Amino acid sequence: MIRVLFVCLGNICRSPMAEAKMRDLVAQENLSDKIEVDSAATSTNHIGEPPHHGTQEKLREYGISTTGMEARQLKKGDFEQFEYIVGMDDSNIGNINKMLGNPDSPKIFRFLDLTDHKKDVPDPYYTGDFQETYDLVEEGCQALLQKIKQEHML
Ligand code: 4NP
Repeated sequence: MIRVLFVCLGNICRSPMAEAKMRDLVAQENLSDKIEVDSAATSTNHIGEPPHHGTQEKLREYGISTTGMEARQLKKGDFEQFEYIVGMDDSNIGNINKMLGNPDSPKIFRFLDLTDHKKDVPDPYYTGDFQETYDLVEEGCQALLQKIKQEHML
């Protein structure tokens, strides 16, 4: 199994959006038996909570469910469990590296560095713009799926 972990600060806005969108794309390509997707927070602020209602509503608009999803914190063991550890912004990458013991690994990277945008995913917790984030998340997920397919000859 190939395992992908999306990470943001709270695990209620951006990383659960990426998790649900990526799982949907993977299912559309009939790859659910090969690629597993999860997400986690660097902070403890929202552990156990479902995705933000803005994230839930935006995904529902596109026919994607968030049922059963709840925030959890990143843990050291995630480094061994996941092959792709994807931070939403530069600050997430700094925190991931610290929390995982600074492994300095190519499997840890910033999401939109896979696209031409090469920037942080804007945080709708502060911007209120869930559409802007959704559009970038969709682009990032498509790029990540291409990368995984190439690297695993799927
Ligand atoms: P996220 O957004 O990292 O995309 O889930 C945030 C959610 C909560 C907080 C910050 C960002 N917070 O400070 O509680």
